[in-house]
Amino acid sequence: MKQFPTDFLWGGAVAANQVEGAWQEGGKGLSTSDVQPKGIFGDVTERKGHTFSLKDVAIDFYHRYPEDIALFSEMGFGILRVSIAWTRIFPQGDELTPCEAGLAYYDELFDELAKHGIKAMVTLSHYEMPWHLVTQYGGWSNREVITFFERYAKVVFKRYAEKVKWWLTFNEINMSLHAPLTGVGLQDGCNESDVYQAIHHQLVASALVVRACHLLIPDAKIGNMLLGGLVYPLTCQPNDVFETLQENRKWLFFGDVQCRGAYPGYMLRYFRDKGIDVVITEEDKHILKQTVDFISFSYYMTGCVTADKALNKKIRGNILNMVPNPHLQASEWGWQIDPVGLRTLLNELWDRYQKPLFIVENGLGAKDQPDEQGQIQDDYRISYMNDHLVQVREAMEDGVDVLGYTSWGPIDLISASKAEIGKRYGFIYVDRQDDGSGTLARTRKKSFYWYQEVIRTHGASLKA
Ligand code: BG6
Repeated sequence: MKQFPTDFLWGGAVAANQVEGAWQEGGKGLSTSDVQPKGIFGDVTERKGHTFSLKDVAIDFYHRYPEDIALFSEMGFGILRVSIAWTRIFPQGDELTPCEAGLAYYDELFDELAKHGIKAMVTLSHYEMPWHLVTQYGGWSNREVITFFERYAKVVFKRYAEKVKWWLTFNEINMSLHAPLTGVGLQDGCNESDVYQAIHHQLVASALVVRACHLLIPDAKIGNMLLGGLVYPLTCQPNDVFETLQENRKWLFFGDVQCRGAYPGYMLRYFRDKGIDVVITEEDKHILKQTVDFISFSYYMTGCVTADKALNKKIRGNILNMVPNPHLQASEWGWQIDPVGLRTLLNELWDRYQKPLFIVENGLGAKDQPDEQGQIQDDYRISYMNDHLVQVREAMEDGVDVLGYTSWGPIDLISASKAEIGKRYGFIYVDRQDDGSGTLARTRKKSFYWYQEVIRTHGASLKA
């Protein structure tokens, strides 16, 4: 297989609330993730008295990061995507001064990465925000939260200006449409207008921090982060094709605002047709013109769309409400596996925006069973990732500018949707089970050596 460019960035991606644990250490405040022990689609549980959450300890990355980073380094990582827990820096979200213990923790983390020659990519907000901002301010429905977020971002930009040159604003910003509490801090009972108003505030905040990043760290790059939710028409029936265009626009809308700097006409029509009244000031429009340097996205699956309402109701399945594609196999969690879709998506994003792309999440969540020697022979994961990376290389041959690839969960972690660890993504196995048992010991899986070889050979070892 033809090599990837030597400056292509290879690595992995994790999120604070899915790996760190230490939920009450270092002055950390309560986050939206802490009150969702069953994941982003689970109920809110106020953490009073004894309540169990797998995320409280997670994989204890907070204390064990030196060991984990050494393993990433052994695989040859050039970059690690992490997130900063907003609640470690501003425990409640509305303080005027940051928490020094939280800042010091990330200083040490970034220093450890630098020691191994691994670049840090930091997501400012990955599926969590201070719970206090939800209960006292109504989450992102409140304009004041923009100011709090900007303050937080400026603090970390200044503090880590020399250590972090890759930044992302909001993880899977389009996910707010499906998980409003996690995405924009809106509680049950919110309607579509509320969600879009909160999203608008988040888009303004995203543009403001892009501007702040450019001013405070001129040699850094800052991108957005989209859930790459590509869908296909179920048939070539023209109504199916048009419905698919509309469905794709639901998530591309975020990219349109963040990359082109204005609301697209189709969205304004959607608001008009649905009676959605979003307050967008002249100043907001000006701020939104500050666009991102590159586009990052996650990619796990594709699905189909049909205009047939009865059929749609009957077969819509997984979290994104997509109709299953009869030509694709699915993972144990029903996520349909589509490597060619990644090439299509890369080409579509490149054609639409002409901005460099970064694949910051991709991987297979599976149940791993150690064999008699205690080894994980995860050929299924190797095959999934091989096939996706082959398509990345094809897209680059098509002329798409791809900066790098960080696989999701290079080490087993707590899943976001249902907060389980039985759904494993890692090249590194963590001895922890869904009931909280286990020693937390780390073991290299077969895929560890496979990814190491892919990185060492710049992709030449991939099987086309
Ligand atoms: C993305 C998120 O949606 O998908 C991650 O950015 C998440 O946080 C990943 O973990 C996989 O989803 P899950 O539910 O399998 O963890």
